[in-house]
Amino acid sequence: MLVFFAGTFTANAQGEALFKAKCASCHQPHKNGTGPKLFQVRQKWTDGGAKEGSIYQWVNNWQTAAAGDPYAQTVSTWSPTAMSAFPELKKEEIDAIFEYVDGVTDPAAAGAGGTDGAAGDVTGADPLEEEDSNGWMWIILSVIFVTIILAVGGVRRQLNFAANEAQGKDSMDHLTYAEELKAWAWKYKTYVGVSTLVVVIGLIVTLFLGLYSIGVVENYQPSQPIAFPHAIHTGVNGIDCKYCHSSVEKSKSAGIPSVNVCMNCHKQVNGRTPAQQEQIAKIYDAAGWDPSGAGKYTGKSKPIVWNKVHVLPDHVYFNHSQHVVVGGIDCKQCHGDMTKQVETPKVQTVGDLNKIEGNIPLTKPTLTMGWCIECHGAKEISTGSIDSKNNGYYNEIHKRLLNNDKSLYGKYLEDGKVTVNELGGWECAKCHY
Ligand code: HEC
Ligand code: HEC
Ligand code: HEC
Ligand code: HEC
Ligand code: HEC
Ligand code: HEC
Repeated sequence: MLVFFAGTFTANAQGEALFKAKCASCHQPHKNGTGPKLFQVRQKWTDGGAKEGSIYQWVNNWQTAAAGDPYAQTVSTWSPTAMSAFPELKKEEIDAIFEYVDGVTDPAAAGAGGTDGAAGDVTGADPLEEEDSNGWMWIILSVIFVTIILAVGGVRRQLNFAANEAQGKDSMDHLTYAEELKAWAWKYKTYVGVSTLVVVIGLIVTLFLGLYSIGVVENYQPSQPIAFPHAIHTGVNGIDCKYCHSSVEKSKSAGIPSVNVCMNCHKQVNGRTPAQQEQIAKIYDAAGWDPSGAGKYTGKSKPIVWNKVHVLPDHVYFNHSQHVVVGGIDCKQCHGDMTKQVETPKVQTVGDLNKIEGNIPLTKPTLTMGWCIECHGAKEISTGSIDSKNNGYYNEIHKRLLNNDKSLYGKYLEDGKVTVNELGGWECAKCHY
C-alpha cells in the first residue's frame, strides 16, 4: 500500500512539474486558452477515432501527427496558433502530464477550490466572482427573511382578530399594523436588534465588495473577428508598433489600423497553412479584394469590427502621446510584451506586467484608478525628453522644476527626484473631466 502510494505520488509530482514547465503557458485543465483544455484528452482522442498512440506523437511533434492521422489533422485546425513541439518527452512523461491534468478538480465545479494547481493563477478573477455571488445570496436571504416575518405576523394578526372576536373581547382593530409590529419588536428587542445588525452588516459588506471590484478588468480578452497574432507581426517580422498604431505618439489614442494597412503586405502574403489562409481570406473579404486570377479590388468592401480590449470609463482622460513621448514609457509597462503575444490582446494582470524587465513594480489592478495613481507616485518624470522634444507646456514645467526656479520648486527636489505626482499627477482634474 505504502509503495503504491509513494509510486503514484512521484508520478503526479513529475506530471505536475512537466505540465507547469512546458504546457501551462497555453493549456489549462478545465478552461480553453491559447490551447484547448486538456482534462481527459486521451479519452477524447480515443472516442474521436484517433489512431493508437497518435496523441503522443502529437505532443512530440504535432505536424508529424497531423500528417499521419486524420483526427490529429482536425485538431490542428482548432486555432491559428500552432502548438510547440516537445520531441524530448517520453511516452511515460506525457502520460504523467495527462494523469496530473485528469487529477485536477474543476475549480468552477469545486467552488472555493479555485487555487488548485496550474489553474490557480489563470483563474485569478474567480474569488471576486464568488464573493459577488455570496453578496447576492445575502440580499436574497434577507429579503426572504423579512417576507417570512411579515407573512407570519400577518397570519398571527388575523388569528388574533378571529380569536378575540369569538370571545367577544375588545379586538385589536384599533392598532395599525405598524403599531402592532412595533409592540412585537419591542417585546423581542434583543432578537430583532441582533438580526437587524446581521442584515445591515451583510448589506454593507456586499456594497463594499461590489464597489471594490468596480472596473477590475484584468484578463479581459474579447474575441476578435480575425485572429490577429501580434507575435507574428511585431516579433517574427519585426514590424514597428507605430506602423499600425500610427497616432500613438501624436494623439490621445493609439488608433487601430484600417484594412488598407493590412493590404500593404497581405496582397502578397496569403498564408502558408490552411489556418492562416482562412484568417487572411477575411482580410480580402473586408477589403473587397479578389485574390484569385487578376487580383483586383471588387469595390465591395466592409469594415472589420475589432472589439476594444482596453476601455476606460468616459469620465477619465488618458493620453498616449503624453505617456509615450513626454513620459518616455514603453508600451510594455502597460500592455505587456506584445511581441510575444500569440493570442489576441488582453488586459494584462499587474502581476504579469511586473514580471517584465524594466517595468516599475505596481500592485493595484491594471486600468483601475489605483494603478494610475500608484505609478504617478513612483515614476520619476523623464528628463531625457526635455531637450530632445519641444513639448510646450510640459517642457516649461519640467524646465522650471529641474533647472530654473530652485527657490520656488526646490522642495520637490529635496529627495533628488521629481515624480509625476509632484507635477500634479494626483490632481483629480488632471484625469477626470
Ligand atoms: C505555444 C502554446 C502551446 C504549448 C506550450 C502547448 N500546447 Fe498543446 N496545443 C496548443 C494548441 C494551439 C492546440 C490546438 C491545436 C491547434 O490549433 O494547433 C493544442 C492542442 C493540444 C492537444 C490536443 C487537444 C485536443 O483537445 O484534442 C494536446 C493533447 C496537447 N496540446 C498537449 C500539450 C502538452 C502535453 C503540452 C506540454 C508538453 C502542450 N500541449 C503544450 C498549444 C500549445
Ligand atoms: C492619474 C489619474 C487619476 C487621478 C489623479 C484621479 N483619478 Fe479617479 N479614476 C481614474 C480612473 C482611471 C478611474 C476609473 C477606474 C475604473 O474604471 O475602475 C477613476 C475612477 C474614479 C471614481 C469612480 C467612478 C466609477 O466609475 O466608479 C471616482 C469617484 C474617482 N475616480 C474620483 C477621483 C477623485 C475624487 C480624485 C482626486 C482626489 C481622482 N479620482 C483622481 C483616474 C484618476
Ligand atoms: C500589423 C499591424 C500591427 C502592429 C505592427 C501592431 N499592432 Fe497592435 N493591434 C493591431 C490590430 C489590428 C489590433 C486590433 C485587433 C485585436 O485587438 O486583436 C491591435 C490591438 C492592439 C492592442 C489592444 C487594443 C485595444 O483594443 O485595447 C494593443 C494594446 C496593441 N495592439 C499594442 C501593440 C503594440 C505594443 C505593438 C508593438 C509591439 C503593436 N500593437 C503592433 C495591429 C497591429
Ligand atoms: C501608461 C500606460 C500606457 C502606455 C505606456 C501605453 N498604453 Fe496603450 N493604452 C493604455 C490605456 C489606459 C488604454 C485605454 C485607453 C482608453 O480606453 O481611453 C490604452 C489603449 C491602447 C490601444 C487601444 C486603442 C486606443 O487608442 O484606445 C492601443 C492600440 C494601444 N493602447 C497601443 C499602445 C502602444 C502601441 C503603446 C506604445 C507605443 C502604448 N499603447 C503605450 C495605456 C498605455
Ligand atoms: C508589414 C507587413 C504586414 C502587415 C502590414 C500586416 N501583416 Fe499580417 N502577416 C504578415 C506576415 C509576413 C505574415 C506571416 C505569414 C506566414 O507566416 O507565412 C502575416 C500573417 C498574418 C496572419 C496569419 C497569422 C497566423 O500565423 O495565423 C493573419 C491573420 C494576419 N497576418 C492578419 C493581418 C491583419 C489583420 C493585418 C492588418 C491589421 C495585417 N496582418 C497586417 C505581414 C503583414
Ligand atoms: C507606468 C506608469 C504610468 C501609469 C500606469 C499611468 N501613468 Fe499617467 N503619467 C505617467 C508619467 C511618467 C507622466 C508624466 C509625463 C510628463 O512628464 O509630463 C504621466 C502623466 C499623466 C498625466 C498628466 C499629468 C500632469 O501633471 O499634467 C495624466 C492626466 C495622466 N498621466 C493620466 C493617467 C491615467 C488616467 C492613467 C491610468 C489609466 C495613467 N496616467 C497611468 C506615468 C503613468
